[in-house]
Amino acid sequence: MQFFERHEGGERAVLLHVVSRQASRAEDLDEFRELLRSAGAEVVGECLASRESPDPRLYIGKGKAEELAALVGESEADLVVVNAQLSPSQERNLEALLKCRVIDRTGLILDIFSQRARSHEGKLQVELAQLTHLSTRLVRGWTHLERQRGGSIGLRGPGETQLEMDRRLIHERIKQLKERILKVRRQRHEGRKGRQRSEIPTVSLVGYTNAGKSTLFNALTTAGTYAANQLFATLDTTLRRVDLAVGQPMVLADTVGFIRHLPHELVTAFRSTLEETLEADLLIHVVDASSEERDRQMADVEKVLEEIGADSLPRLTVMNKIDQLAQSVAQVDVNEQGAPERVWVSAKTGEGMDDLRQALLSRLAPAKIAVSIFLPVSEAGIRARLLNEGLIVREAWSEDESRPGWRLDLVLTDGKWAQWKKHFPQLGDYQIPPVVLPDTPVVLPGALAADGLHH
Ligand code: GTP
Repeated sequence: MQFFERHEGGERAVLLHVVSRQASRAEDLDEFRELLRSAGAEVVGECLASRESPDPRLYIGKGKAEELAALVGESEADLVVVNAQLSPSQERNLEALLKCRVIDRTGLILDIFSQRARSHEGKLQVELAQLTHLSTRLVRGWTHLERQRGGSIGLRGPGETQLEMDRRLIHERIKQLKERILKVRRQRHEGRKGRQRSEIPTVSLVGYTNAGKSTLFNALTTAGTYAANQLFATLDTTLRRVDLAVGQPMVLADTVGFIRHLPHELVTAFRSTLEETLEADLLIHVVDASSEERDRQMADVEKVLEEIGADSLPRLTVMNKIDQLAQSVAQVDVNEQGAPERVWVSAKTGEGMDDLRQALLSRLAPAKIAVSIFLPVSEAGIRARLLNEGLIVREAWSEDESRPGWRLDLVLTDGKWAQWKKHFPQLGDYQIPPVVLPDTPVVLPGALAADGLHH
């Protein structure tokens, strides 16, 4: 047992970590502490209990519960957070005994989600999960708790007002939320169809929580999404279009960080993120290369990807935070075919980011070239075919009346251009020197991006 110094701010929380022979890893405790800090709590006491099977009434033994009650009193804690899943009655019994609020791991994670959710669907999903979690805990009301107050952990989001509602109202709200989520999801599918039609590849950032996904996302898109040294800085999928080079756009999707032991009922709250991941053309696995836990974290992410069926998708690993390594080197590791597999970068300092863009280009598409042609009006048929294949990036009608026709800028691979010339040998004669096209990245505003890119 250990006490922490008192700081200003945050709610005062005592953490109860229950270990068993199967689950006693020290990292679990570290992650639990991080989760609490993420929720904005100040950890004022820690209590460790070891137990093989939970007590049906209190989860922990009576002696341990009394020890915990004493700790809560001494440290003037507002709440106790248990790193386990409690049944509603265990939660109530503990609250009655400890005389303070008790929340379990699911409640804590939901609280963090409710602080972080930004997209419409993300918010709806969290509210739904939170209400579902609450509805099972409303059997006898919360009257045994006197010390409830606003803005408290586990009571944020819909909690505060919904607590006074009866179950019928909660169930109505749950039904309404489910309908809305379906609607939002349908809209999102429409947006995705639009993207698929335009053949813009989607790249999803995945990785362990705090690996630096949002920072990398920002560095690649220069969009100002929220990045903070807190777990789950991103709950919902954020989409942005990035033009890696002329004629090579991609849609970049930021996803929520993976964590160990994600409570089962929360998986649904991530479905939108996971779905997005499943449909990606390429996954960027972001790794905190400076973490002592990096191998284990990488393995955890791989396991989750396997679980959701995304393990067969093409993968590019980004070893991030090289600025924190003793020997920091921006480098690219390639596979036997010479294709980039691992890129070492610092999303924060920008080191290695050009290599990453290059690696993305080569992984997403074979090198493309820009070709300009002058097509006389008599060749309208060729123009129609080029248009049909979406190869024209810009066209202008010639002002010269003696030689009517179009000036066309095409972007295509070397191989494709060779095929076209074989089919229409006259194209070789029509070729003119290319003009430089602007290649500044197109960053869509958030609302448009979230709406899909088929504007
Ligand atoms: P979740 O949303 O929790 O999944 O986190 P994330 O993977 O999106 O991480 P985020 O981008 O929020 O970064 C987490 C912390 O790592 C922040 O404090 C960043 O400033 C820091 N960070 C990210 N990239 C780098 C880097 O290259 N070097 C260093 N030193 N810090 C970095």
